[in-house]
Amino acid sequence: MQKDKPSRTAYKVALNIVTLGAKPGMDRILPPGIVPATEKLLVASGAVGPRTLRWSRSKRMVSVYEAFDWMLPGQFEAFAQRKAFCERQVREGIGEGVSQILVLGAGYDTMGWRLAPEFPGVNFFEIDHPATARLKARGIGAMGQRVNLFLVSEDLGERKLEDVLKTNKIWEHSARTVIVAEGLVMYLPPEAVEDLFRQLSDIAGDGSRIAFSYIPSGEDGQPDAGRWTGLMLWLQKIAGEPWIWSIRPEELGPFLEKTGWINAPAVAGTTVKHGVEFYAVATK
Ligand SMILES: C[S@@+](CC[C@H](N)C(=O)[O-])C[C@H]1O[C@@H](n2cnc3c(N)ncnc32)[C@H](O)[C@@H]1O
Repeated sequence: MQKDKPSRTAYKVALNIVTLGAKPGMDRILPPGIVPATEKLLVASGAVGPRTLRWSRSKRMVSVYEAFDWMLPGQFEAFAQRKAFCERQVREGIGEGVSQILVLGAGYDTMGWRLAPEFPGVNFFEIDHPATARLKARGIGAMGQRVNLFLVSEDLGERKLEDVLKTNKIWEHSARTVIVAEGLVMYLPPEAVEDLFRQLSDIAGDGSRIAFSYIPSGEDGQPDAGRWTGLMLWLQKIAGEPWIWSIRPEELGPFLEKTGWINAPAVAGTTVKHGVEFYAVATK
């Protein structure tokens, strides 16, 4: 990604959530409160102006997304399913006694801000690239800080996650944790993805889990986004955030085992494709 600029893809995911809020029936899928919180965050951070926000939440914008559905079938609604999937994992984990949540590549995700007051005994951490994290911090500052929400600004390509957390006085290395990595691993080089999962195993206690999404590989080993894969890979590349990592769903189990995690394919929603992605849960 372009190091000095806030993530375009994080911005797109957030605007997509706002537009999904205008689509009838999506309130049954989207986590409660996500749409107004995302709108607030986008404006308070300065990422969008009121005009863009108005346009994004219009029925006309819903039609625009739907008109482009041929390119990535199902992807528009898949963002709602992805948010719901990850939040379900977090809530389930908290129900089972997890005491910390880590959201990697958090972008404009509002889960930590929304859930922190509901679960005062749980610490929420978010890490993102400095250019995006800076805007997010400004937005959260304006919306109201949460005492148990910690925003960490780091480029995980430059500094190891375990080093980042080692110097954090609140992070507990042996605590049961839920880690969320939505829409992240496809942007990292293969060796960085393997290293990240290994590090995650070192920084979280037994009984932890990771909820993440990934793009499946095609026959050629490249990310497979369906019929228009070539066009999509090119669009991502010119946007400065190319998709570089993917894996076949049947290879996920052995891959995770190498890194200290166990694939949990029995979790609802992990065996079907949602838009261009699969969702997965790894346990420890
Ligand atoms: C597609 S966005 C997803 C945002 C968020 N997870 C969501 O789904 O709403 C990818 C995010 O990963 C972050 N990211 C990418 N590479 C990173 C790196 N090397 N270190 C930290 N964050 C990174 C980007 O800044 C961006 O916010």
